[in-house]
Amino acid sequence: MKNPDQDVNAVIGGAHSRVDGPLKCSGGAHYTSDRRLPGMLIAVPVASTIAKGTLTGLNTADAGKMPGVRAVLTHENIGRFYRVNKATKIKIDETRPPLDDNTIRYYGQYIALVVADTFEQASAAAAAVQATYREETPNVAMQMSPDAKPEVESERGDTEAAFAAAPVRLDATYTTPVETHNPIELHASVATFDEGRFTLYESTQAIMNHRSAMAQMLGVDDEQVRIVTEYLGGGFGGKLWPWTHSILAAGAARKLKRPIKLVVSRQMMFQTVGHRPNTQQRMRVSATADGKLMSLQQDYISHAPILDKRKEDCGEATPYLYSTSNLKVTSASARRNIAPDTSMRGPGAVPGLFATESAMDELAILLKMDPVELRVRNEPKIDESLNVPFSSRHLVEALQVGADKFGWSKRDPRVGSMQKDGEVLGWGVASCSWKASRVPAQAAVEFNTDGTLRVSSGTQDIGTGTYTVLAQMAAKQAGVPLSKVVVSIGDTRLPPGPMSGGSMATASLVPAVSEAARDAVKQMLTVASTAQGTPFMDTKPDMLALTDGRVHLKAQAAASGMPFEDVLRAARFNHVTGMGKSGASDSDPDAKKLSIHSYGAHFVEVSWQPAIARLRVKRVVTVIDGGKVINTRTGANQIEGAIMMGVGMALFERTQYDPRNGAPINSNLADYIVSSNADTPDIDVTFLDHPDFALNELGARGIGEIGLAGFAAAMTSAVHHATGVRVRDLPVHIETLL
Ligand code: MOS
Repeated sequence: MKNPDQDVNAVIGGAHSRVDGPLKCSGGAHYTSDRRLPGMLIAVPVASTIAKGTLTGLNTADAGKMPGVRAVLTHENIGRFYRVNKATKIKIDETRPPLDDNTIRYYGQYIALVVADTFEQASAAAAAVQATYREETPNVAMQMSPDAKPEVESERGDTEAAFAAAPVRLDATYTTPVETHNPIELHASVATFDEGRFTLYESTQAIMNHRSAMAQMLGVDDEQVRIVTEYLGGGFGGKLWPWTHSILAAGAARKLKRPIKLVVSRQMMFQTVGHRPNTQQRMRVSATADGKLMSLQQDYISHAPILDKRKEDCGEATPYLYSTSNLKVTSASARRNIAPDTSMRGPGAVPGLFATESAMDELAILLKMDPVELRVRNEPKIDESLNVPFSSRHLVEALQVGADKFGWSKRDPRVGSMQKDGEVLGWGVASCSWKASRVPAQAAVEFNTDGTLRVSSGTQDIGTGTYTVLAQMAAKQAGVPLSKVVVSIGDTRLPPGPMSGGSMATASLVPAVSEAARDAVKQMLTVASTAQGTPFMDTKPDMLALTDGRVHLKAQAAASGMPFEDVLRAARFNHVTGMGKSGASDSDPDAKKLSIHSYGAHFVEVSWQPAIARLRVKRVVTVIDGGKVINTRTGANQIEGAIMMGVGMALFERTQYDPRNGAPINSNLADYIVSSNADTPDIDVTFLDHPDFALNELGARGIGEIGLAGFAAAMTSAVHHATGVRVRDLPVHIETLL
């Protein structure tokens, strides 16, 4: 019930500023596209202007003669690329290497690469490459029917019979559009090739996976590829797995033996680096007259690219969210001439919960029941899909705390009944959930004679606060002040760390850093026992402790001790390094016996002014049950950012394709609207403080994605309350409210 932020100075659970903040604010943080290497050339891809057909000719002669042009690379001269072997568990969404054949499967597919001295020269020459095609009519329709028999994902009881017999029933279809990731930092690769080794500066959320994928595609060993990603300006899932521009840049560097920079333009970001696919979800929900769910059925379809198939897992949260004896989830896909889709923040559950939570709201209205009460009545005791207990679930508390903070008891459920200052207010609520797990991770913790404690791991910070929480974990577990910690990440030369995705980085890093810190402290105390001229010389290590950065006798206070750097010097050591490792929760027998998820509740107030057709989001109260939140400041930022993204999902975001040539039409930030500061409501984020020790000893789960889950449903429920219009097809268009 209390925000864990009772003590803002607590190393774990405090509200710490970002350790990388000063560098970011002063221009000292270098992003991939900032990199300028001696002799570097600039590459600009040539993109297909059709979405389906055959590339019949490519005339590069004119382009090749233009000023500054060093090469026009095509399948004939760029060198070989190979495929990623999925059996190696290395992830990539678009498995066809670039320039691999002459079939065009989506608009914007790369067909050549121009390399020149400057960006302007390369762009001009790319525009001068002449392609001829045998064009066919692409299928980019958003309306979908399954390509094949739907697959049953989860089933219990007899859903159809229960639905048929139920007194209260809802049968409604919800759709969400293609949404394109728009991190402000564009995708970029700066590739170098030197003596058989690639150093690739990338904008990736997963350096370790990126290295192996690139090594496989380039036909070299992992050891011959180094990936560096010091800072990222956002990713949202679009930067999880390598895209074709990375391999093109590396291929060009290999061919020309010069560093190559390739920055994907904003327009190309709508074509070749993934998006959330559109989804169409039919929900059939039924209940007894007093609001007990009798059945829950979700049949969903999402689009898929022509070659690869990735499932948008809309049913992920459905089987465990509410108690019901009869449940069925089915999925299907429909192939389209659209580039491969990928994970976008909360993949699956985010569009999925738009449907489930909207259906719960509609059901509450049919039942004439408060939508919070309906959810509370259907709270399960265990995960009914897996028949295992929840590790820690406080959804009801999140709903109740949120309702109190929001003032929900004052809600008049009648449509349009709440007015203030000439505006109609609409109040909506939704639950949210997101899975929590751990992936393998390694970390090193090192005491140095310069007085720093260095924590390193081959992970990366996508802007979410990984630098900061790593510093906090290391400080806490090694017994050193936070100000002394230095963080090294973003380089595959470091011990392999987790990807920044799936809300898993923090939970995965905790055990690795903890073990590394314990190992380092143990070594430090052993070293102290050999430190000449100190009070610890010839003391047994187990009589010593390390607190506040000082080695001291356990029997005495830390203040009586000696700073670790002095001890290292006295013992003639430059540094001591501890190593730690964590394993995947998937292969952890204890974790496997539990259903581990985060939960939360969103309460939203919108205002509607029918006379001027203006809809605003005024106020949001969000309560998150995410286990122990390590840093309440960066944590709250995560949720606030997700809510902003949720406002965009509910009201603005939709990628539109031209049916004639399959081109994303609104491929820029003026026409593809994301929410901005002016759209920001008052946001009140509360974290429930229930550490969940199923994944690690600090009780942390993960909070990167959950803030977006369910939010759009809370929005459309609020819109319905204000206007009487139920929007089942996102985003909300003002026209539909009139
Ligand atoms: Mo997230 S979609 O796991 O970056």
